[in-house]
Amino acid sequence: MMRVHGGRVYEYAEAHDAAWSEIADFSANINPLGPPPAVLRAVTGSLGQIRHYPDARHQAVKRVLSQRFGVEPERIVCGNGATEALALLLEALRPQRLMVLTPAFQGYEATARHLHIPVLKVPLWQDGGVAFSQLTLVQSLQCGDAVIVNNPHNPTGYAFTARELAELAEVLQERGVHLIVDESFMDFLPDQERWSVLPLTRKIASLSVLRSATKMYAIPGLRFGFAVCAADLAAQIERVRDGWSVNQLAQVAAVAAYQGVGFDEQTWTWLKEETSWLYTTWGRHSLIELQPPHANFFLVQIKQGGLARKLLRHLEQQRVYLRGMAGFELLDDTFLRVAIQTRGQNERLWRAVEGFVAATAQAKE
Ligand SMILES: Cc1ncc(COP(=O)(O)O)c(C=O)c1O
Repeated sequence: MMRVHGGRVYEYAEAHDAAWSEIADFSANINPLGPPPAVLRAVTGSLGQIRHYPDARHQAVKRVLSQRFGVEPERIVCGNGATEALALLLEALRPQRLMVLTPAFQGYEATARHLHIPVLKVPLWQDGGVAFSQLTLVQSLQCGDAVIVNNPHNPTGYAFTARELAELAEVLQERGVHLIVDESFMDFLPDQERWSVLPLTRKIASLSVLRSATKMYAIPGLRFGFAVCAADLAAQIERVRDGWSVNQLAQVAAVAAYQGVGFDEQTWTWLKEETSWLYTTWGRHSLIELQPPHANFFLVQIKQGGLARKLLRHLEQQRVYLRGMAGFELLDDTFLRVAIQTRGQNERLWRAVEGFVAATAQAKE
């Protein structure tokens, strides 16, 4: 079985001799309601603009982001996805080391290594509970380091409160450590005041926040993300960066997405219903442990030896693509991460999973 990474639908299709459109992709955490119609209209209506270079200053989109998030445009850095925004931040900050709380999105380590920044890995939880120990974290750090925390957290689905992260940001500030909070999945939460530290970036210069449009607005193939940070850091980045990396259609899409009305609410309603449904299906199965999800994906553990691996293989034959967690620190091949889709898709997957687990568990008896 090939070792798969989330979101690589073309590679997956090729490896399974299928067309990409035949794949039911539960591996990438993309909003199934999107892209919003307004984004599609804006993009198709702007195709003529591709004969010009993009606006390298990203002015229109910065204006919209500024209004939407109450942040000065001078503190926004746009990127070709949150991935590029992170690379730009790290390149400017040049921390001695980047501390990554693991398990983590593998892009953090890849980006740091690309920039020759040493990575220090610290377990996100100890003794079973998902929560970081501030003490362990802070003790391992030195002035000049940076820390990246993902909230809501991929792949566990766990969410830290804004208060917890604000406390951490303050402690780290005193120690001369920069805190990057990756809020790529934050838009999926209706009550963001409770979870997001974005407003705090105004007060704490050593705090930066990343956001992504690719997940919520379903534009991973177009790509848009941004960082909110201190104005002098943003200016330092803008002076030397390649502004053309954010293509014009991505900028147009982001303008339409972030000034849109109604799509976010529609997404929150869908997600609330699907999350409740998950608890009545995956959540009730005796062999499956569901981690409570806060965003549009969930982590499950199928404890019976080898069953999760066999299930992945079985689903592969049906062209259903899930993310196995072998290779992620603190997790192993008993864990699977699943993107939440529309009800029909979720039901189709659940029927396949339940049927396979019942047949395989019975066969063992
Ligand atoms: C936690 C996290 N941050 C950032 C990214 C990258 O986002 P983007 O597509 O905006 O580069 C991902 C992609 O899966 C992710 O899971």
